[in-house]
Amino acid sequence: MKDSKLLSSFDSKNLNLKNHIVMAPMTRARAVVRNTPNDLMTKYYSMRASAGLIITEGTAPSKNGVGSANMPAIYTNEQINGWRDVVNTVHENGGKIFLQIMHAGRSAHELNLPEGAEILGPSAIPAKGEIFTLEGLKPMSTPREMTTTDIEQTQEEHVQAAKNAIDAGFDGVEIHAANGYLGQQFLNKGSNQRTDKYGGSEENRCRFIIEILQKVAKAIGGEKTGLRISPYNEFNDMAIYDEIPKTYENLIMQLNTLNLAYLHMAGTGRNIPDGFFDSLAKKFNNNVIFNGGYGFNLPLAEKVVSSSDRYIISIGYPFIANPDLIDRIRLGVEYNEADQNTLYTPGEDGYLDYPTL
Ligand SMILES: Cc1cc2nc3c(=O)[nH]c(=O)nc-3n(C[C@H](O)[C@H](O)[C@H](O)COP(=O)(O)O)c2cc1C
Repeated sequence: MKDSKLLSSFDSKNLNLKNHIVMAPMTRARAVVRNTPNDLMTKYYSMRASAGLIITEGTAPSKNGVGSANMPAIYTNEQINGWRDVVNTVHENGGKIFLQIMHAGRSAHELNLPEGAEILGPSAIPAKGEIFTLEGLKPMSTPREMTTTDIEQTQEEHVQAAKNAIDAGFDGVEIHAANGYLGQQFLNKGSNQRTDKYGGSEENRCRFIIEILQKVAKAIGGEKTGLRISPYNEFNDMAIYDEIPKTYENLIMQLNTLNLAYLHMAGTGRNIPDGFFDSLAKKFNNNVIFNGGYGFNLPLAEKVVSSSDRYIISIGYPFIANPDLIDRIRLGVEYNEADQNTLYTPGEDGYLDYPTL
């Protein structure tokens, strides 16, 4: 790509990247021992250090946050040290890396949680659908409705996870409020039927995640804190309803006081109103990462980043089979195709064996 803005550096107050292409967070379920990052993961991420920024797969801040099988976490010293190796190697290869902090909430099954952990949610409503466990697909579990104490404790877990991430050397963290995990379970009317200050009105449903961001930003700095949302994604039984734009406008108004690194918007879903994401991006006062299909539509990606100095894009799926995706984009070379069967299987197959150019 000649004269590509995508491939040029991104310079802004809170984020400086060597190009405008972010690797989107992707769960790969390789943390098979005690949810701890290992050498395979170090290799996998360091091979992708040419991205402007890597956002790691969803990582649990606590036992209760684990939810899916073999996902990594960051609450033990062993896990922090595992991440330290990942981060050091990415940095040695010239990359930048944020940790995605993901609390699964009700999108979970008991079989996937460590001993002594408990499945929590804003309300005691199970998500419809099945989840992968080491004993096969199972219906998702019914969560226990969180008390105010649970809410405070879970927020503190996010703060501690963010501090642990900075301790491990991460450039920042992304708080996950997308794809039907705990943050979005509070935002969404279907999963949040609380009658206290964390449920009901738009402002109340935003409170859980806003308080987390305030606390995390206070602990590690707003400029090291990002947020991910996916307002119209129905994954994990998220309801679609008329007031969704109102929910997210309210959220963004409050985000604008926090001086965040970025707002990451996953544009996945079937019912997205015309112009919805553009309108949200314009209301946000800092960097915006657009996501959803851009790896296969580079002209559109180029158009998005050219439309504002605050905009970047993230690419997910194509990074799975193309560790050297940035080179392929630069040279206009075809992508390798990912093997669907090894997305979440343990081991190197379909993880470390995709060829570079
Ligand atoms: C294998 C796989 C795992 C994913 N895991 C996560 C995750 O851990 N956290 C998250 O926010 N999104 C996750 N996603 C969603 C991606 O970040 C991204 O939003 C989605 O793939 C659409 O972007 P794309 O069209 O560039 O692939 C995952 C997607 C894939 C394909």
